[in-house]
Amino acid sequence: MNVLEVKDLGINFGGLRAVDHFNLTIKKGELYGLIGPNGAGKTTVFNMLTGVYAPSDGKILLQGKNINNLSCHKISQLGIARTFQNIRLFKDLSVIDNVKIGLHERYKYNLVDSLLRTKRYFNLEQQIEDEAMELLEVFRLHTYARVKACNLPYGKQRELEIARALATHPILLLLDEPAAGMNPQETQELMEVIKKVRKNFDVSILLIEHDMKLVMGICERITVLNYGSVLLCGTPEEVVNDPQVIKAYLGD
Ligand SMILES: Nc1ncnc2c1ncn2[C@@H]1O[C@H](COP(=O)(O)OP(=O)(O)OP(=O)(O)O)[C@@H](O)[C@H]1O
Ligand SMILES: [Mg+2]
Repeated sequence: MNVLEVKDLGINFGGLRAVDHFNLTIKKGELYGLIGPNGAGKTTVFNMLTGVYAPSDGKILLQGKNINNLSCHKISQLGIARTFQNIRLFKDLSVIDNVKIGLHERYKYNLVDSLLRTKRYFNLEQQIEDEAMELLEVFRLHTYARVKACNLPYGKQRELEIARALATHPILLLLDEPAAGMNPQETQELMEVIKKVRKNFDVSILLIEHDMKLVMGICERITVLNYGSVLLCGTPEEVVNDPQVIKAYLGD
């Protein structure tokens, strides 16, 4: 079963064709890489998949359902979660509260429960607290639960963003350059975390990343974008040995 099918996706920004005839198929449980030089259109693809930008043409099918032109909120409810190229956390909130925000989407209680602080309200709050803590444990962030997000080490902030995205129970997780700004040790840890996420959660992952060691080390298939068009789609071995890819990255 394909989790995601993207057919001939394209978008124009004024006179700029930022993405053109983009095709992609992601299978259940797959860890898929999206790479390409700066300005190739990678983040723009994520923005179309998550409803930030409406595609100019093409189709996006999530588990067979067309999600073109749905709102970000609706797409999130249908199961796509993401992290951002620049960290977007609630910096003044605690680590656990950042995760709870993601969880509240799924736990609905009515106004009467929350105003009257009924037993049901407290039970749900406890459930949310427990689930948030479990998620933090996967990322070994539980010891920082009450620390303000802005006081976490940089690498941990990036991992917290992934934890928060997972709180919505996505079927597809989009990671936009999660290793950006990390040192080699943090990158190594992140690689283990991403592998663990795929193993422990029922989720497919689409990863944008410039760190080749990371991409080559964990992705089963990779698509290379260049000037908005797909240059190649293949296994890590096929990608690193392709002359066109080498040229796109290193120039003539
Ligand atoms: N909202 C927008 N309006 C106009 N042009 C845009 C907009 N968003 C992106 N672009 C342009 O689309 C092209 C692709 O940008 P995008 O951010 O998707 O690249 P990228 O592959 O993510 O690059 P990087 O590796 O630097 O993050 C660039 O030329 C960019 O300037
Ligand atoms: Mg980008």
